[in-house]
Amino acid sequence: MDILKKIEMQRYEDEKLKWEGTFAEYLEILKDKPLVAQSAHSRVYNMIKDAGVEKVDGRNQYQFFSSQLFGLEEALEKLVEEYFHPAAKRLDVRKRILLLMGPVSGGKSTLVAMLKRGLEAYSRTDRGAIYAIKGCPMHEDPLHLIPHHLRQDFYDEYGIRIEGNLSPLNTMRLEQEYGGRIEDVLVERIFFSEDRRVGIGTFSPSDPKSQDIADLTGSIDFSTIAEYGSESDPRAYRFDGELNKANRGMMEFQEMLKCDEKFLWHLLSLTQEGNFKAGRFALISADELIVAHTNETEYRSFISNKKNEALHSRIIVMPVPYNLKVSQEEKIYEKMIRESDVADVHIAPHTLRVAAMFTILTRLKEPKKGDIDLVKKMRLYDGENVEGFNSADLEELKKEYNDEGMSGIDPRYVINRISSTIIRKEMTSINALDVLRSLKEGLDQHPSITDELKERYLNFISVARKEYDDIAKKEVQKAFVYSYEESAKTLMDNYLDNVEAYCNKNKLRDPLTGDEINPDEKLMRSIEEQIGVSENAKKAFREEILIRISAFARKGKRFDYNSHDRLREAIQKKLFADLKDVVKITTSTKTPDEQQLKKINEVVARLIDEHGYNSTSANELLRYVGSLLNR
Ligand SMILES: Nc1ncnc2c1ncn2[C@@H]1O[C@H](COP(=O)(O)OP(=O)(O)OP(=O)(O)O)[C@@H](O)[C@H]1O
Ligand SMILES: [Mg+2]
Repeated sequence: MDILKKIEMQRYEDEKLKWEGTFAEYLEILKDKPLVAQSAHSRVYNMIKDAGVEKVDGRNQYQFFSSQLFGLEEALEKLVEEYFHPAAKRLDVRKRILLLMGPVSGGKSTLVAMLKRGLEAYSRTDRGAIYAIKGCPMHEDPLHLIPHHLRQDFYDEYGIRIEGNLSPLNTMRLEQEYGGRIEDVLVERIFFSEDRRVGIGTFSPSDPKSQDIADLTGSIDFSTIAEYGSESDPRAYRFDGELNKANRGMMEFQEMLKCDEKFLWHLLSLTQEGNFKAGRFALISADELIVAHTNETEYRSFISNKKNEALHSRIIVMPVPYNLKVSQEEKIYEKMIRESDVADVHIAPHTLRVAAMFTILTRLKEPKKGDIDLVKKMRLYDGENVEGFNSADLEELKKEYNDEGMSGIDPRYVINRISSTIIRKEMTSINALDVLRSLKEGLDQHPSITDELKERYLNFISVARKEYDDIAKKEVQKAFVYSYEESAKTLMDNYLDNVEAYCNKNKLRDPLTGDEINPDEKLMRSIEEQIGVSENAKKAFREEILIRISAFARKGKRFDYNSHDRLREAIQKKLFADLKDVVKITTSTKTPDEQQLKKINEVVARLIDEHGYNSTSANELLRYVGSLLNR
């Protein structure tokens, strides 16, 4: 469908959603769908919940965030279950400002933007629908029209609690425009929109000398004072501050802790009492979620100042740490690259993964337990199997520090390095080595890195480089075999047949001649030696494998190539050892003969077709692995 058609469709949809009627008619809607009267916090919570919740490893994963935020599942679970959910139930946390605290570029702004965009969309759905007094600059809740002394009766009839007072402006309009007839007051359905300043606001402090509190709470409209005769006539006031406009929805308070105190005092009363003071009016009720964000240093200095105590007790701090999983970090980069101008550059396979390894290493803290190193910890965190460790160890590791993920390299730095590599070198294809080089160069220019830290980071770059060497070698060797998995499986089956015969003191049958033959000791040893199983230990090793096989069989599972880490490693190494010479000779000769050339072309083609390379990156990979094997 072309874009004009879509625009027209959209207009049609918008028209369909609109609703306008009297307060009396609004009450009919309420009877049917009491949800439309929910509080701002409750609407946010329901929006998150409606997007779906998935149980993963006993944890709730909120799908609402999963398209944009990666690896923050635990932090988000805490945020939803310790703030949004109780706040939706009108518990006390609702009266606190939500302060997201986390390191730079850790996704705080992204999280807030998702909530805003989410609310805009949600207010257009059935369950997120919201109504307001027509013509009110603060989109006031129509239920405020019901006088206090009738609210208990209203609750008895509708089961809905009403909070807040009718604003000065609407009190006046009720008298003047509607002659006090509440049931006639016009109500309309509203749609949140930050651009149109409906239900979503952003406040960002500027120079405290020039910034006016009016930005938050609105101001007197001097041009209309003459008309209305007095400054205290609400019609002469513009309720257009961010707090006004964000009523019913949410307001983002950027750099809250950098803000001048006088701005913060308004928040005190708003959050605690649900109202704020503007101009010469009675307190104005507002119902909105206030989200602020900050980093750790700023937060520490804020709470160390005694003057801030009152505000501090009205803030609820939720940590937004860096992601600590390599595979999720890769997704972050993919997303950021997709959104950038360099999206069409070819990025060789494993490039982002290797960069992510470096980044995650800078964020992890050294394990306190002696028997695990940082690289293993990194793998465990990413959900990989690490021989000798299980999920209990993982939980223990996570408990060792409670501030892990609050420091280290941020994703924006990595993306900046990747783009500067691409732009400076005018490359159309980059690989892991390019990126590691660029990350290394960048450390010199990084503003906040001490010499000691730099040393540590350089070391992580070499660790990531070593990981890449392994990956690269395996990749090429795999591409040399016609079907790697197939070969590995055949070799493994062959080995297991021999082991079985050996342990049971049986003979095997030669598949060609049908003759009985002894187990192939040479074959078994050539595999076992790959992982250092000694002549003395071979019997125990083989028996252990047989026991594993029967344990698998008892559970009705098939023992295969992936069931035994060490055996898999042995098989892999054996296959590679057999291949090594071929690969070495083929990839490193300067003047390949016809046979070799054919093989190289075949391998390059396989790298391109099956492994996601292009011809530049495939050739670079072959050359690099050639040089590695010749060391
Ligand atoms: N866990 C994450 N998942 C997905 N994207 C992330 C994550 N962390 C950071 N990003 C990406 O990194 C970039 C910077 O994130 P964002 O601006 O949200 O961070 P921030 O915490 O607000 O940083 P700052 O403190 O500098 O304001 C964004 O493009 C964001 O999408
Ligand atoms: Mg930000």
